[in-house]
Formats: sequence, structure tokens, C-alpha cells
Amino acid sequence: MKAGLISTFLLLLLSFLLMKCDPPKGKVKEATLPDSTMLGLIDDTGVLLVLQHCNACHSTQLISQNRMTKVGWKSTIQWMQATQNLWDLGEDEAIILTYLAKNYAPSAIGRRQSLVVEQWYALDEKN
Ligand code: HEC
Repeated sequence: MKAGLISTFLLLLLSFLLMKCDPPKGKVKEATLPDSTMLGLIDDTGVLLVLQHCNACHSTQLISQNRMTKVGWKSTIQWMQATQNLWDLGEDEAIILTYLAKNYAPSAIGRRQSLVVEQWYALDEKN
């Protein structure tokens, strides 16, 4: 009887101590990806398909540093299919082309705008 009481007491003490050992909630840092911008690509509809298909052979930088129209992107894809073993993109091609043409268009931000010259000055011919 006495031994039973003691072991019950010890069990309670042990579980109390174990509860105390739980890691403090809220203090554990949540794991985050170092790059939340899809390996440098703009986060927009279709970006996951681009990552799936276009990140296998080369870096995404090769994509993000280029600016092309939809026609240009299509011919780049066709060139890779003809010469670099790029596979048929199937139904994903239309979504990928829309993504690329929208986010990596020739006029996209990041490319210098054309200069607008409002007034030309006359050259002094005498000098
Ligand atoms: C099967 C391999 C492969 C896949 C998959 C692939 N590429 Fe390429 N891509 C290449 C190779 C090889 C080059 C040439 C790399 C070089 O010049 O160093 C290239 C070059 C490029 C270039 C540069 C073209 C230029 O004129 O300089 C762009 C842009 C590009 N790829 C975009 C894409 C996009 C978008 C996708 C997804 C639809 C894709 N790639 C998927 C193999 C691939």
C-alpha cells in the first residue's frame, strides 16, 4: 500500500517534470526558405510550371535576365526543343508562354526606358 502511494507520487512528479521539459512554444523559429521569390523568378500564375520545366538544365537566371515577346519566348523554346533536348511541354506550354510574355516582356521594369529628347540643341559649326 505504501509502496503504491510512493510510486504514484513519483509517477506524478515525473510527468510534471516531463511537461516542464516541453520546448517553449513561440520561441522555436519557423523554417523559411532563404528565397521566397521562386528562385529569383517573379511569383505569378504559372511560375511553378516554369520552375518544373525550365530549371532542369540551367539556372532560372538565364530566364530572368531575358526579355522577349510571346513570339520570342516561343521560338526560344522551339530552339531548345530542336537543339537542346527540351521536351514537349504539352498543355503547360500556353501557361508558361503567358507567364514569360507577361513577366519578362521587352518593356518590363528593369529595362531602361528609351530616352525622350524634347529639344535638340543647335551645334555651333564654328568650333
Ligand atoms: C533540356 C534542357 C533544357 C530545358 C529543360 C530548358 N532549357 Fe533553356 N536552354 C538550354 C540550353 C542548353 C541553353 C543554352 C545555354 C547556354 O547558352 O549556356 C538554353 C538557353 C536558354 C535561354 C537563353 C537563350 C539565348 O538566346 O541565350 C533561355 C531564355 C532559356 N533557355 C529559357 C528556357 C525556358 C523558359 C525553359 C522552360 C520552358 C527552358 N529554357 C528549359 C536547355 C534547356
